[in-house]
Amino acid sequence: MPLRSLWSVLFATSVAFAANTPGFNYDEAKVPAYTLPDPLVLENGTPVRDATMWRTQRRPELLELFAREVYGRTPGGRPAGMHWETTSVDRAALGGKAVRKEITVWFTAKKEGPKMHLLTYQPAGAAGTHAPWPAFLGLNYYGNNCVNADPGIALSTAWMRATPEFKIVNNRVTKGTRGAHAGRWNVETVVARGYATASVYYGDLCEDRNEGLTRDVATLFGTGAVNDRKPDEWGAIGIWAWGLSRALDVLAADPEIDGTRIAVHGHSRLGKAALWAGAQDERFALVISNDSGAGGAALNKRIFGETVERINMSFPFWFAKNFRAYNSREAALPVDSHELIALIAPRPVHVASAEDDQWADPRGEFLAAKMAEPVYTLFGKKGLGVAEWPPVSQPALGDALAYHLRPGPHDITAVDWAQYLNFADRVLKK
Ligand code: GCU
Repeated sequence: MPLRSLWSVLFATSVAFAANTPGFNYDEAKVPAYTLPDPLVLENGTPVRDATMWRTQRRPELLELFAREVYGRTPGGRPAGMHWETTSVDRAALGGKAVRKEITVWFTAKKEGPKMHLLTYQPAGAAGTHAPWPAFLGLNYYGNNCVNADPGIALSTAWMRATPEFKIVNNRVTKGTRGAHAGRWNVETVVARGYATASVYYGDLCEDRNEGLTRDVATLFGTGAVNDRKPDEWGAIGIWAWGLSRALDVLAADPEIDGTRIAVHGHSRLGKAALWAGAQDERFALVISNDSGAGGAALNKRIFGETVERINMSFPFWFAKNFRAYNSREAALPVDSHELIALIAPRPVHVASAEDDQWADPRGEFLAAKMAEPVYTLFGKKGLGVAEWPPVSQPALGDALAYHLRPGPHDITAVDWAQYLNFADRVLKK
């Protein structure tokens, strides 16, 4: 092999694995044998015969297990006093192509205490011709001002999490206060395809650190501190999922948005939250998991990439304390992520992985979607429409389940959005 191509192979390999924490298994041949629980068998051993039995017996049983053992219990729904105010509307945003709205939502009857800021864009088409619009809803990492460079978006003043890529000074992303994650949102494309897109800063709901569990939304429910919680109390993922349902409450009340056609999506930790939101709240019409990995779409019992122990150690505030009982004991978990996806059936779910994101176990994410199919079958759906893990760049868009493997690292890009929009056109457009 000429020296140059040898070098490019080595370089590509080191880049591909750069994001993977050493000391974990990335070798398919070294995945120990594992057994998944059967979604179609009740805990008492009785087979689930039909969709009615699934809905009335197995689904509640699985929801209870995920709440108690994994994410923690969601302590309540929409607070009685929750109310909101539209703080800005621009009917000629994005160069006239979109309508932008900003809404402040207070979770109590007072204009103080925990609140979130909801940002929406919808196509500028005349209301009544195409509206109400189907919509994508997701949480963002750096304030609503990160989703687009649009100077009309109010700047978030909330606490933000610094990473090697995103340094924070005075709650501002030094890399770019506005539009720091525009590439992850693709607002112009989504709107051009005839969808609204809505976003909330995850830190409005629960800061992404231990302290988050005693601030903001957690205070409404008296959530305990990270290690003082009751074993089945919720964590940050539960709180983020709750916030997605509250955003849906608000969107569904907007006559220009179609509350029956709202897709919930999320990347990585927020993909875990999107799945848990979609599993609990049957109003979400489509659920999208982008690189959600461990504690999300990836099978926990399949030892590849991030493990239960590792995630509980790095992020002790994300899950219920009960989840820690499965550190290095994945086999004892009574549920796995194929059942999290199945909880969404027959509503459509799109799972996406990135080729270089071995930490999130791309194949384990595919297998979870695949193993959810028997539940979709009860509802007369086929599911993914493929038998094997599809190669990179060959999306499998089925009748109710979709999967794609994108080349490149852990991220959400225009390539992912192209597939989400294609699948949404199929399952959400009238
Ligand atoms: C870490 C974590 C993952 C998570 C990811 C993210 O890598 O280990 O579980 O999905 O952060 O949210 O970006």
